[in-house]
Amino acid sequence: QVTSERSSTDGFVVTFDDITDLVGAQRTAAWADVARRIAHEIKNPLTPIQLSAERLQRKYAGEIVTDPEVFKQCTDTIVRQVGDIGRMVDEFSSFARMPTPVMRRENAQELLQQALFLQRVANPGITFSTAAPKEPVHFEGDGRLISQALTNVLKNAGEGIAARIAKGDDEPGKIAITLEPKGAKFAYRVTDNGIGLPPEHKHRLTEPYVTTRAKGTGLGLAIVRKIMEDHGGDITLADVEGGEGAEVTLTFPFAQKTLKGTEDEQKRIADRV
Ligand SMILES: Nc1ncnc2c1ncn2[C@@H]1O[C@H](COP(=O)(O)OP(=O)(O)OP(=O)(O)O)[C@@H](O)[C@H]1O
Ligand SMILES: [Mg+2]
Repeated sequence: QVTSERSSTDGFVVTFDDITDLVGAQRTAAWADVARRIAHEIKNPLTPIQLSAERLQRKYAGEIVTDPEVFKQCTDTIVRQVGDIGRMVDEFSSFARMPTPVMRRENAQELLQQALFLQRVANPGITFSTAAPKEPVHFEGDGRLISQALTNVLKNAGEGIAARIAKGDDEPGKIAITLEPKGAKFAYRVTDNGIGLPPEHKHRLTEPYVTTRAKGTGLGLAIVRKIMEDHGGDITLADVEGGEGAEVTLTFPFAQKTLKGTEDEQKRIADRV
């Protein structure tokens, strides 16, 4: 029903736009983006698995006296299947969904140890050091997503070091991680002695698809930024002062704000679309 305060009006022209296609296209784009992010996250642990299997093969193949064929067959299977999972993930990713964060009480040190474990396996040549308070640092957040964010940042640090070594500089790789509570917030700071941030894209590195690596998707830091936004935190990238390398800081609030109004609003929008 269309009404008007002004009685002098003789009539109305009412136009309707059919936005079904527009909404559909927006939804498809959002899904595709989410699917690519998930594919990226599933693939992160695949590399350490594959490298571990290959290392077992290289190191111990000569020492196995009982059924060396079985040893080779099994390790070959792991390598081959992991490769297949990677390709499969790429293919079905368009049907996947990115999880919404589930906030719980978490221990910041524990999450760091989980992420570090993966990267230690993937980068045996790099020395990892940590500095964290003795007493546990508890906060409210989605532990799984934060581990993912840390994994992406540590993986980049390892790749920065590999890039420097590939240039012929053979100084050993080091990654230092500090965990610092500061007022109502705490931060993970990851410092590496790698090649350093690329000067040409310095301000765009957290945008999707910005990459300088031949095999990179450029989604790693975009995912980190999204996870930080979901937690009311932020990410900063900087050069290491007076040397090579990069320093990435993830800052989180200890407690999550309750955004009731905003959530209701978001739900209404979600129901409509
Ligand atoms: N620690 C670092 N040292 C040097 N450069 C970095 C570091 N972290 C990020 N970068 C730069 O930021 C770019 C974007 O990083 P991002 O993680 O988003 O994508 P990627 O690592 O290239 O690809 P993917 O994460 O999909 O493997 C990298 O290509 C690299 O140039
Ligand atoms: Mg990356």
